[in-house]
Amino acid sequence: MPSSIILGTGRAVPERVVTNDELSKTMDTSDEWIRARTGIERRHWIAPGDRGVRLAKQASEAALEMAGLPAGAIDAIVYATSTPDHYAPGNGVFLQRELDVGGTIPAIDIRMQCAGFVYALSVADAYIRAGLFRRLLVVGQEIQSTRMQLSTEGRNTAVIFADGAGAVVVGATDDSTRGIRGFDLHSQGSNAEKLWAEGPSSMVRLESWPEQLAEGKFWLSMDGREVFRHAVVRMPESVRAVLAGAGESLADVSLLIAHQANLRIAEAIQKELQLRDDQTYNNIQRYGNTTAATIPIALDECVRAGRVKAGDLVVFTAFGSGFVWGSVAMRW
Ligand code: UT7
Repeated sequence: MPSSIILGTGRAVPERVVTNDELSKTMDTSDEWIRARTGIERRHWIAPGDRGVRLAKQASEAALEMAGLPAGAIDAIVYATSTPDHYAPGNGVFLQRELDVGGTIPAIDIRMQCAGFVYALSVADAYIRAGLFRRLLVVGQEIQSTRMQLSTEGRNTAVIFADGAGAVVVGATDDSTRGIRGFDLHSQGSNAEKLWAEGPSSMVRLESWPEQLAEGKFWLSMDGREVFRHAVVRMPESVRAVLAGAGESLADVSLLIAHQANLRIAEAIQKELQLRDDQTYNNIQRYGNTTAATIPIALDECVRAGRVKAGDLVVFTAFGSGFVWGSVAMRW
């Protein structure tokens, strides 16, 4: 059975940089509070009229270039986002149209919020192991800035979430010493409302959307303390599970990329797993929380900085709205 390896990585963020000081002009917050509680120093938000698929295209082209492959070599696209450009269809087909893929390859949309990229990789890996496809483009992309309340009421999400995209080219290999070793995937719908956007909703006729909007039901709402409390338990638990399933140990991990939700969460995971600084990587300081895009953006930085080499044990772990969480372990 073939296994899946990452052949190329890419990332893209909007040009516009938003500093903590800029946020403190529209809400009661401060650079000091945001840095101390989240680690975030700045983030990127789209300009009016910009779109997620543009970022995904840029990230995908960079990943294809690193892989040394034309877009036409891709058999399928797996696209994770919880903030698609349109209500329907999903972003996958727009990316399929805008990349020069040739033909009518499938484009699969995945939601799964902050764990979207890990779940998208699991879908690509299953296709490869089943022998259905040999090369896939896997994208994690998010535009959060347009749906956050830029006032004191919305400050617990507005200071955290941001926009961006990351992409990887996944390919099949018959080299049994390399590739994805396994996944650990979970969900717990009993906590769905702890981090959610209630609307816009298909339960409500379009004419009534303004009422939902006025009631604040379109804003992303989060019980930050509860999400934090679960995140710092679930991600380490999941890393341990994926490593145990793969017959690998924490001491052998070369690189753990944890979902960049809050620097305090990433540091708590590192501490719980007793990992050294050189075994982990964080970049939330510069990007904020880009939901499904945090892991592929961080991975691209690591790969381009030469932090990952053939044979390294690389682990990703994510947790978010749903609750959904999961991890993947691979030999690079
Ligand atoms: O992507 C995956 C899902 N998301 C996450 O994993 C995020 C998880 N949660 C968090 O990162 C943190 O809970 C937050 C960063 C959202 C909040 O940090 P916290 O340390 O948990 O703060 P808190 O909610 O306990 O609030 C502490 C105080 C409160 O004031 P009082 O009640 O103590 O007077 C808040 O009203 O800080 C206040 N506060 C703020 N102050 C300034 C909350 N947000 C802000 C803010 N600026 N942006």
